[in-house]
Amino acid sequence: MKKAEEDLIMDSHISTGESPDVDARDDFVFPDPWRTGVYEAIYRRRDVRRFRSDPVPMDMLARILDAAHHAPSVGFMQPWNFIVVADRLTREKVQDLFERERVAAAQFFDEPRRSDYLALKLAGILDAPLNLCVTCDPTAAGPAVLGRNSVPETDLYSTCCAVQNLWLAARAEGLGVGWVSILKLPHLRAILGIPPHVVPVAYLCLGYPERFLPQPELEAAGWRRRRSLDGTIRYETWDRATHPAWPALDRLARRITPEDSPMKRIIDATRRIAPLDALAMAAARVRQGSLTKPQGSLGRLEDLSITLAGITGNDRPRFPRKAVFVLAADHGVAGAGVSAYPQAVTAQMLLNFASGGAAINVLARRAGARVVVADLGVATAIPAHDRITDRKIGFGTRNMADGPAMSLEEALIAIATGIEIVEAEVDRGLDLVATGDMGIGNTTASSAIVAAITGAAIADVTGRGTGVDEDGWARKVATIERALTVNQPDPGDPLDVLAKVGGYEIGGLVGVILGAAARRLPVIIDGFISGAAALIATELCPDARDYLIAAHMSVEIGHRILLERMEVAPLLNLGLRLGEGTGAVMAMHLVDDAVAVLSEMATFADAGVTEQNIVLASREKDGVSHTLSEGA
Ligand SMILES: Cc1cc2nc3c(=O)[nH]c(=O)nc-3n(C[C@H](O)[C@H](O)[C@H](O)COP(=O)(O)O)c2cc1C
Repeated sequence: MKKAEEDLIMDSHISTGESPDVDARDDFVFPDPWRTGVYEAIYRRRDVRRFRSDPVPMDMLARILDAAHHAPSVGFMQPWNFIVVADRLTREKVQDLFERERVAAAQFFDEPRRSDYLALKLAGILDAPLNLCVTCDPTAAGPAVLGRNSVPETDLYSTCCAVQNLWLAARAEGLGVGWVSILKLPHLRAILGIPPHVVPVAYLCLGYPERFLPQPELEAAGWRRRRSLDGTIRYETWDRATHPAWPALDRLARRITPEDSPMKRIIDATRRIAPLDALAMAAARVRQGSLTKPQGSLGRLEDLSITLAGITGNDRPRFPRKAVFVLAADHGVAGAGVSAYPQAVTAQMLLNFASGGAAINVLARRAGARVVVADLGVATAIPAHDRITDRKIGFGTRNMADGPAMSLEEALIAIATGIEIVEAEVDRGLDLVATGDMGIGNTTASSAIVAAITGAAIADVTGRGTGVDEDGWARKVATIERALTVNQPDPGDPLDVLAKVGGYEIGGLVGVILGAAARRLPVIIDGFISGAAALIATELCPDARDYLIAAHMSVEIGHRILLERMEVAPLLNLGLRLGEGTGAVMAMHLVDDAVAVLSEMATFADAGVTEQNIVLASREKDGVSHTLSEGA
């Protein structure tokens, strides 16, 4: 685009700040930051219903209204007006209107959908500091409007384009918009004094959101899923959903959305994480109850076997193919003297994993697990090695005490990378996943994550990592304090927390967890660092929690707090603090034991043992009568 044309366009806008140099390009394509920005605004826009009360800056409001005003309109009629509603009394009246309609609309759904509907939050009229009513005036351009004679509703369509412009511009400014359509229009007209010939098209809530969800709230709540793009495309005529000459478009339509943007990949994985299979669990529970032993006598191993049945959808699950994912990266914060080891150790250990000499290699061999080693952001260049997956996102994160450790984009890429790594292994054949980490400085990042999300005192979630002394510990606490003050991570937004105080390998592990859960695989979580990743994964997608098995209780003091937050109990307590996935592969033996008992033990019927005999036998043994089953 010519510079003069560019200037003309920019001049007609309220400036959004410095624009990148466009002279460098001689075609019509936007420079990369602009192009990406457009798509990011589209993919990250959400309908927001939960707002903070802080006011919307007036210059920002002016910019987004101006963006709305630059929408296309039929015959360039610009039929819109914007009523800005700040008055609390007016908003209370609209809220009453909404509440009446919301309850009345419940009749359209049968149970249990009705209860689900009533539990949804469907508007933030009073929470948001501002409401906006976007109206359409069909008379705005006189009686004859170019292009509108055949379809008079094009004036309304044009107004919707203005709403969408506003919605996207608001997103780019960090503002949330929620559209409230559960309102009777005649009443709304009366409250806002809208004349009869003008149509109130959109009633919007506007303000800073509590958070931007990665997927639509209705989708996260299990109300409805996004259709796939390929299912929306027709070729030439309505009845042709595929086209022999255009298989590429079909394939691309299926692929583009999830694969082209890390965010879409993450959403795609979280969308596939289903609740546990209740039927398989019920069958496993019945079988557990019929095995030749007193009920519950194998303690948590019995519950574990039932959970594993629910995860896999198989009441006699088996896990012959196992892998531990050891993701490595460096942390800028290591430069602040928070670790007992120098940063160079991360790279050295990575090579040690690759050559099979580390603790994780030994323990994984004994558990029959393959070790998948990946570099997500080690600070030095790692020589090509066929046992190291090179997925480097950067050469170490930035020091979180000075600003965000990663950009949001990097954090998203880290998660998407983890998803891709686990998916590649699933495609090779995989039944059981374990997580592991390597990164000097990563207990500092993990403590910061736990403090940010749980609100726990920093000193209560900060341990000694690789073994720092008293001074080192005090430095670590002070560094985390500074990082949280400087970055102000939003506890309600796990992606924000990950980006600001997390790390590449932690993000990667979030992806491994989500990707594995999406493929119905159990994920054994190692210690503190894997736990911090699991915390982010479960804050992003609560259903992922059901797929987690906490291997052990780490020596790191923050571990207990994060496990309590996720409501998962560790299997082992061995005083471990090595990381690498060592505790997780030890727990693989217990997982195998749990399912072997479930599958291989004889039932009372198989063994010809009556349940009563067992009662008598156990009574003789310890003088106590055990009730072995309901029928005993
Ligand atoms: C015309 C229109 C009316 C809507 N009305 C409501 C509403 O009354 N309450 C609500 O919670 N969401 C409403 N929504 C938001 C949709 O539910 C939301 O856009 C959808 O779940 C997709 O989510 P996303 O916008 O976060 O991507 C409306 C959206 C549109 C486009």
